[in-house]
Amino acid sequence: MFPKPRLKTGETLLLEVETLSAKAQGVATVGGRPILVRETLPGDQIQAQLTRVRPPHLEAKLLRVERASSQRIIPRCEHFGPCGGCDLQHLAYEHQVLWKTQTLSRTLKEEGGMNALPEIRVVSMEEPWAYRSKMEFSFGQEGGRVTLGLHQRGSFQRIVDIRACHIAPPNISELLAVIKEAANRFGLPSYDPKSHQGFWRYAVVRTSFDRGDLMLLLVTNEGPPEPLEALAEEIPRRVPSLKSFYWGISTKVSDVASPSRMVFLGGSEVLEDRVGEIRFQIRPTNFVQPNLGLTGPIYQAIAEEAQLTGREAVYDLYCGIGLIALSLARGAKAVYGVESDPENVSFAQRNAALNGIANAAFLCGKVEDLLKGRTLFKAGPRPDAIVVDPPRAGLHADVYAPLLDSQAPVLMYLSCNPLSLARDLKVLLQRDPAYRVGSVRLFDFFPHTTHMETLVTLRRAPP
Ligand SMILES: C[S@@+](CC[C@H](N)C(=O)[O-])C[C@H]1O[C@@H](n2cnc3c(N)ncnc32)[C@H](O)[C@@H]1O
Repeated sequence: MFPKPRLKTGETLLLEVETLSAKAQGVATVGGRPILVRETLPGDQIQAQLTRVRPPHLEAKLLRVERASSQRIIPRCEHFGPCGGCDLQHLAYEHQVLWKTQTLSRTLKEEGGMNALPEIRVVSMEEPWAYRSKMEFSFGQEGGRVTLGLHQRGSFQRIVDIRACHIAPPNISELLAVIKEAANRFGLPSYDPKSHQGFWRYAVVRTSFDRGDLMLLLVTNEGPPEPLEALAEEIPRRVPSLKSFYWGISTKVSDVASPSRMVFLGGSEVLEDRVGEIRFQIRPTNFVQPNLGLTGPIYQAIAEEAQLTGREAVYDLYCGIGLIALSLARGAKAVYGVESDPENVSFAQRNAALNGIANAAFLCGKVEDLLKGRTLFKAGPRPDAIVVDPPRAGLHADVYAPLLDSQAPVLMYLSCNPLSLARDLKVLLQRDPAYRVGSVRLFDFFPHTTHMETLVTLRRAPP
């Protein structure tokens, strides 16, 4: 047995990258110890400098690619690397999709204990660029200049000043440049997350699925209204696709773009949109799925899995503005949505009316509270199908029992986080073995990032 090589921070190594970690870092080994190196790929031979030698793993910084992996391509974006937005632009798109499929399969098996999985059905994007329906940019400061972009990887404070973001439609980049140029004319600094001083905080931009119209929410610290009034006059003139403009005021110390107060500044108060057959309206803070090309297909897949005949009661839990419930309503007897954000609920009701849908009801509250003691399922009809689409953290532990007690023949779980999905499915499948995994579908909702959207359908064998 040879002694393990002693490795020191700062040391330069020649490495062969073997695999890609779940966080998209290339993994090489030295003396059996894994070393993680960002922006590298399996098959790369690299020069790298050790930056961390403490357990559980070592880390190194890429210095040079000596021999490139056959999967490597030139990233489209000039900001790739420092920008925390995309991790995978150097990996050819078909390999990104393959890697996500393998990652999902491994997570469901290892974390979810699902050894006999049906083959994962993968829906990728024909054009994996300009796909985001929402971008949340942050203001930063470089000397006397206001910058606007995305957080630098691993930093809460530093902002990469973005010229163009290729995962967003081009009119969003155009708007970004105009906001930045205009904001620099008022002599007001950006908000500093350390001192909590400064004015400009976030620019949250939404675009409509069907026409590419833009809605802007410019979030600032408490301050004078004049700069915003001037921008509300100037920006829509320079960016004609901007149809709705809000000012948000936030004095919160946490780094979240949701304002405490919103002032409507011009254009239309709502952004009009459509997904499939369903028309809908939103305000800047409503939840809408962030992928322009694949939201329709995901709702179609849910309809396929639900196999509705017109007699069913369907529950859409964590329903946002109700788009899943509304797209299933015409095929069902009744649909019920549950959502904790009152503004989302009021827009779900408004959107039902907009589509002339009368068999949809939306309730405001936390799913775990409304399901406690099966209250909701006792008050309403017994569910024939349930869709859950929780936030990244997954289901609250109090939700498992009432979900299973409902004995719904079809239980669909839409998730943006394979880890919480696997954890929740493991509990559900162990507690009620009458449920089986009917299908697993992966939607590549977030090309060039490590993220994905998954739809798992559980079917219950009749007693
Ligand atoms: C991933 S989104 C679901 C969106 C929706 N299914 C759609 O397709 O547009 C999750 C939603 O759950 C809501 N939410 C978060 N925690 C909740 C809870 N404990 N109970 C009910 N809704 C919750 C959020 O406000 C958000 O609208």
